[in-house]
Amino acid sequence: SAAPVMTLDGPGGAGKGTLASALARELGWSLLDSGALYRLVGLLSLRRDLDAEVTDDLDAAVNASRALDLVFEPDRGDGQRVRLDGEDVTDAIREDAVSAAASKWAVQPRIREALLARQRDFAQPPGLIADGRDMGTVIFPDADLKLYITASAEERANRRFAQLSALDVDANLGRIYREILERDARDASREVAPLKPAVDAHVIDTTGETVAASLERVRCLVSEKG
Ligand code: C5P
Repeated sequence: SAAPVMTLDGPGGAGKGTLASALARELGWSLLDSGALYRLVGLLSLRRDLDAEVTDDLDAAVNASRALDLVFEPDRGDGQRVRLDGEDVTDAIREDAVSAAASKWAVQPRIREALLARQRDFAQPPGLIADGRDMGTVIFPDADLKLYITASAEERANRRFAQLSALDVDANLGRIYREILERDARDASREVAPLKPAVDAHVIDTTGETVAASLERVRCLVSEKG
């Protein structure tokens, strides 16, 4: 595509969402949060009671994925907001039930295929920051700069625990850690678009590092690219 694309892939909780939105703001580029697309499919499926194991339900989910009426609202400082059929679902798609549903539909090749063109359409001038699991491997294999953002499972569990505690949500660190390991295993072992760094990706491990420090490392890579 004509527009420059930078991809950030990696496991959940590694900090790529934070880095991606900071970069998009700094560069004035748009931001594709591809996880939100899978979360929207998860949300729809829960609302319509669709089951990936039932053929008619899978057909319905594939059609819904192709027709998603979604809008990412520009970030006004408090993060990008997501609308589905006009409804603000930014918070609804972060719920645990939706996370689980999203990662179940994400193993379905027909769902991934249905979302593919939609994701590529986001590559528009002046440029795109694409955040996900397969941005550099499948969706934008010719991206100008590919980053793979990771952190140890312990670190990611601690960050999630701190986030939830700050929100006064009752959380169990051991359970969060186990769920992270399960989701990693599911994302890495699926047959289509498994989670792995592109061969030409720069791997950035954010374990024990502040967001500011990680962002500075990423800025250096961006400026090297010129
Ligand atoms: O990144 P996020 O946690 O919002 O993604 C939700 C789920 O969607 C992930 O657990 C993963 O299974 C799936 N996903 C994917 N490919 C992407 C982005 C997300 O399979 N590019």
